[in-house]
Amino acid sequence: MEPDFSDGTVPLDDTFAEVVEFHGRMYQKYALTNETYFSPVDERETTRLEQMHRIFNQVFDNRLIFPPVASPRNVLDLGCGGGDWASAVAEEFPRASVLGIDASPHMLPEDPPDNLDLQVDDLNGRFTFQSDRYDVVHSQMVAGGINANRWESYIRDIFRVLKPDGWCQMVEIYFNAQSDNGRLTRDHALSKWSRSYLQGVQPYKNPRAPLQIANWMRNAGFTEVESKLLVLPMCGWSSSPRDRAIGQAMAGTIRNLLQTIGLYPMVHLKGMPIEEFEILVEDASAEANDPSFKVGIPDIQPLSRHIRVHRKEAEKPSEVMIEVADTVLWVAQPLLDMTTT
Ligand SMILES: C[S@@+](CC[C@H](N)C(=O)[O-])C[C@H]1O[C@@H](n2cnc3c(N)ncnc32)[C@H](O)[C@@H]1O
Repeated sequence: MEPDFSDGTVPLDDTFAEVVEFHGRMYQKYALTNETYFSPVDERETTRLEQMHRIFNQVFDNRLIFPPVASPRNVLDLGCGGGDWASAVAEEFPRASVLGIDASPHMLPEDPPDNLDLQVDDLNGRFTFQSDRYDVVHSQMVAGGINANRWESYIRDIFRVLKPDGWCQMVEIYFNAQSDNGRLTRDHALSKWSRSYLQGVQPYKNPRAPLQIANWMRNAGFTEVESKLLVLPMCGWSSSPRDRAIGQAMAGTIRNLLQTIGLYPMVHLKGMPIEEFEILVEDASAEANDPSFKVGIPDIQPLSRHIRVHRKEAEKPSEVMIEVADTVLWVAQPLLDMTTT
């Protein structure tokens, strides 16, 4: 009997399953060959994503869904990775149907909750999901995998599959280390890391996409677009106990983050010798973690190392013709951009 693929799915073939090794990390062959995504998909990455999920829980005060959706019925998680957010949502809302999509099958949970379905698909292709179906579409830390010329149609696709009155929630990190008192100069290792990373991915991806998402959402027809710029401290420099706790958690993962995100873009795409890359990661993580950077700096303006997190929420209007509201809210001013690319 012929299998029934009427729900738009096809069986997983070797195209998505094959992996290749690069300097001790495991990558999806499909992602590298098609220049889709340049981060590893190994166990170490699964663990790092779990840690980031816990950190985001702290940052977002344990709220998985920010928009006002009390009991979602259908939830779509795009680029779900290890399925941490999708699993948590499925558990918190047992009556909801959650669908997690990722191009890589390697990090997907083996034993997901019953109401979480997982499918393998490339988000750079136009969506085949049903229109007007989802109450919430979530897309978190996928900027490294969305092609530069795909962003606007990606957001239009999200708009199409949302129910009228549905919400889109996006979280992206802009990987550009900065200090809020200007003490991190362009010669510091963290600045060099940021520059090299951005230069490495720039031909394929748009690392500044997080700064433009709110506008693209409005162009796609979303209303009530709210954009919040949050600071993710890289170590416990903050005087606020909450941010200090977040910074301490980040300090435990920062070296891994710099190595994981940077390895392929800097060494393969940009041609940096591996030895130079390893030294850069060591120096940059030392800068991120070294308390001596605080010496002589007043408490009120500590040397900070952080990355930008952009949180976007947008509501699909119930009538698509409704006038687009212009309600962007910046809770923090953008900080000095140290990148000169
Ligand atoms: C940094 S991880 C984030 C995972 C998850 N959203 C989270 O917040 O933990 C990025 C994920 O997006 C997936 N991804 C990247 N590009 C993709 C694409 N074009 N289509 C589908 N998945 C993609 C990767 O395989 C990876 O699992």
